[in-house]
Amino acid sequence: MDLRSLFETLLYILPAMTANGSPVVASRFYGKGTPIDGGRSLGGKRLLGDGKTWEGLATGTIVGLLTGIIIGVLLDRPVAYWASIGALSGFGAMLGDIVGSFIKRRLGLPRGSPAPLLDQLDFYVGALVVLYFVGVRLSLSSVIIWAVIIFFLHRATNYLAYKLKLKSVPH
Ligand code: CTP
Ligand code: MG
Repeated sequence: MDLRSLFETLLYILPAMTANGSPVVASRFYGKGTPIDGGRSLGGKRLLGDGKTWEGLATGTIVGLLTGIIIGVLLDRPVAYWASIGALSGFGAMLGDIVGSFIKRRLGLPRGSPAPLLDQLDFYVGALVVLYFVGVRLSLSSVIIWAVIIFFLHRATNYLAYKLKLKSVPH
């Protein structure tokens, strides 16, 4: 494991990280938003719940795109490539987060309830899957090391968001 590939992997997943945190901040402006599941249920349980909105999906994708552009500009790398990677990473993060909520609802867990591992890593897995799908190959060891870091980072940032009253729950 070298620091170089750890850093290269970070460039691909940083847009997913900024995207994942963005709906909480943006929802201060768009309010409750428009639920993606349109209020529909499956077997008496919400498909996704009120915490997954179209506004959040769009915000995460745009924030991922902007993060990619900043990476390209700051590191003097092809900006169009990094903008695309950023958008895909951000969109993948939002998809993973949606799949995470879908699983939580099927397990009977209400919106905002804690689901260890799922809450912290669903967006990360979503971003990795989408990036893999478009041909990005990251080193497995760096992906695992970042999973551990992201797990604790997510807990710390969400606790901070709770303390700042951005979130009503600390997870
Ligand atoms: N959010 C959103 N749209 C998304 C993702 C998140 O509007 N696609 C906003 C919602 O206001 C949500 C908040 O970001 O409440 C925090 O996201 P998250 O913790 O993923 O959702 P929870 O409300 O905890 O719901 P769930 O139990 O389904 O994870
Ligand atoms: Mg949550």
